[in-house]
Amino acid sequence: MGGGSSKTPGGSSGDQLYVSLKIENMNVKDALVPHVFGSTPIIGSWDSTRALSMERESALTWELSFVVPPNHGTLVFKFLLKPKDAESPCLVEEGEDRLLTGGKMEDESRSAVFKSPGFGQDELMAYRVFVIVDVISPFDLAASWRAYKENLRPSTVRGIPDISMNAAPEGCQEATRASPSAPKSIPPEELVKNASAAVMELDLERYVVPSPTCASTGVYAANLAETPRSLGFAKCDVFSGSHNSCEVKFLKTDHTASDKAMPAAAGAVAAAAVADQMHGPKEDQCLAIVLVGLPARGKTFTAAKLTRYLRWLGHETKHFNVGKYRRLKHGVNQAAYFFRGDNPEGVEARNEVAALAMEDMLSWMQEGGQVGVFDATNSTKQRRNMIMKLAEGKCKIIFLETICNDESIIERNIRLKIQQSPDYAEETDFEAGLCDFKERLANYGKVYEPVEEGSYVKMIDMVSGNGGQIQVNNISGYLPGRIVFFLVNTHLTPRPILLTRHGESQDNVRGRIGGDSVLSEAGEIYSKQLANFIKKRLKSEKTASIWTSTLQRTILTATPIVGFPKIQWRALEEINSGACDGMTYEEIKRNMPEEYESRLKDKLRYRYPRGESYLDVIQRLEPVIIELERQRAPVVVISHQAVLRALYAYFADRPLKEIPQIEVPLHTIIEIQMGVTGVQEKRYKLID
Ligand code: F6P
Repeated sequence: MGGGSSKTPGGSSGDQLYVSLKIENMNVKDALVPHVFGSTPIIGSWDSTRALSMERESALTWELSFVVPPNHGTLVFKFLLKPKDAESPCLVEEGEDRLLTGGKMEDESRSAVFKSPGFGQDELMAYRVFVIVDVISPFDLAASWRAYKENLRPSTVRGIPDISMNAAPEGCQEATRASPSAPKSIPPEELVKNASAAVMELDLERYVVPSPTCASTGVYAANLAETPRSLGFAKCDVFSGSHNSCEVKFLKTDHTASDKAMPAAAGAVAAAAVADQMHGPKEDQCLAIVLVGLPARGKTFTAAKLTRYLRWLGHETKHFNVGKYRRLKHGVNQAAYFFRGDNPEGVEARNEVAALAMEDMLSWMQEGGQVGVFDATNSTKQRRNMIMKLAEGKCKIIFLETICNDESIIERNIRLKIQQSPDYAEETDFEAGLCDFKERLANYGKVYEPVEEGSYVKMIDMVSGNGGQIQVNNISGYLPGRIVFFLVNTHLTPRPILLTRHGESQDNVRGRIGGDSVLSEAGEIYSKQLANFIKKRLKSEKTASIWTSTLQRTILTATPIVGFPKIQWRALEEINSGACDGMTYEEIKRNMPEEYESRLKDKLRYRYPRGESYLDVIQRLEPVIIELERQRAPVVVISHQAVLRALYAYFADRPLKEIPQIEVPLHTIIEIQMGVTGVQEKRYKLID
């Protein structure tokens, strides 16, 4: 009976394997659910409580697919039948363990044969087995999952079947097999006891711990923009300015003089960007992204986000908010009349502050600044001409116009503006503020001229989450290309991103860096606690995905999580410690003192011999950031210390130089909430 098929993958050794297992003729015993179990890290250490349930694909076939990391030697597994009736024992298939090595199945045509006392002494059940192995990249996996969500049915991307997930455990008797030679049917008394941790009740708030630094929670994005120099505030970290009897307080931003230590395009920046900078015309070496749009179209939010992204990639970037200059020079209490196009004093005053901000930006570029994000309405041709004239021969300009036609989003933005903008901080009557701002908006609307000149990107209805479009004109070069790619992928749909390190590994216990060890006992407990936490935290979410690296410790940490697809990314692997892999810090100090000292001196740039630096890690994480920005559903990232420091720094807008020291403790979940008002952070410590 039997038969099978397997495709030998022809990809590079760095690729992951997508394995799809099918078993046929499963209609005979309806009370039995086929499972797969076997060697770590994929299918549960011969522990039947961790066996992966197969899904019914059709009346006759059941299917299970999963991803095998590229460096995983041989995958050893067997099929297992779990009765739905919790009293009966599980049945393990007869014969040798199945071996999958480098994408090739040994004895691929062998049927799965089960023998059970419950079905008569000599009764054998034989099922045909199909094994399909494909080589894939994480991008294919992500695309496949997207396609699945979009079509609400299993899909294929470049011939790859959809990603599967392990379903919630069923109430059957579960067993642990100590070794591949253990008994084939497992009696109830051999059940695994420690599964109880997985059903423990969790009061999430009990586990909240303070965050070491607060992300930009509740801070108006414009306040984080560059401090106006031309108005005499260059050196102040915290200052207040009194104008028209108002006091404006600005928060210290991290990205001032200290960033100067980081030369533009250093390390983290792709070689292409460096080449552009070195060989391009002088004016192309600096780039000004000039926002255009009516008020309440998300310009400041977009400007802040773009600034954060470019800084994280290592580009010297600053956000210049003209509103901040206006408030300092003319006070915060300017009524709608000030913004009328037929109020010459108002127009002149606004042009003046725009020119001051522009001058500051150009001076900063002369001192080494690379990308200036110039944030104002810039909504008339006359204003944009003025900007282009000021920039002539000094920097390249790209206009970034944000257009929104969705009235409900505009209304939401207007309300946020009244709550958050310093312009309305002193307005105690919300309705009066609303009325004034709407009048201001109408005044801008009367003279608004969409961009048709120069290089531009138009984002049309991109924040609504219902498609939208991006129009691009006359854009070329590495950095403008990256910017467009980033903008295409960002949106404002609120969703949480949960970041956690793997559970404690055996190498963590021994103090060894790198490696690919399994979890310690504490790490295993954490994996169960985490599954429990995720179940509770994401219980009201329709969909979510779990991302791990391809190293065992993250895959094992994700194993108890059920009901969500799991995607493995090589990009999420721990910093490659090259020649030092597997050593303790003490051993490095003793045996390679020069390496130890160099790392101590400059941990950000230090590259392990034949390994990586933090800057290398940041560069390889860029696709992960883009994908995290693009996702609309929650994502749980289970990764490693250095990688999570880099990811966290992006969301918390922390300067590059701080990344190697950021606290990312074990057994702690960092929840990043992405939403319309920016990024918020919450930390949960599940085990002390
Ligand atoms: O010690 C755990 C670990 O994840 C190592 O594998 C890795 O080399 C290290 O942390 C990264 O942290 P640091 O950059 O501080 O050495």
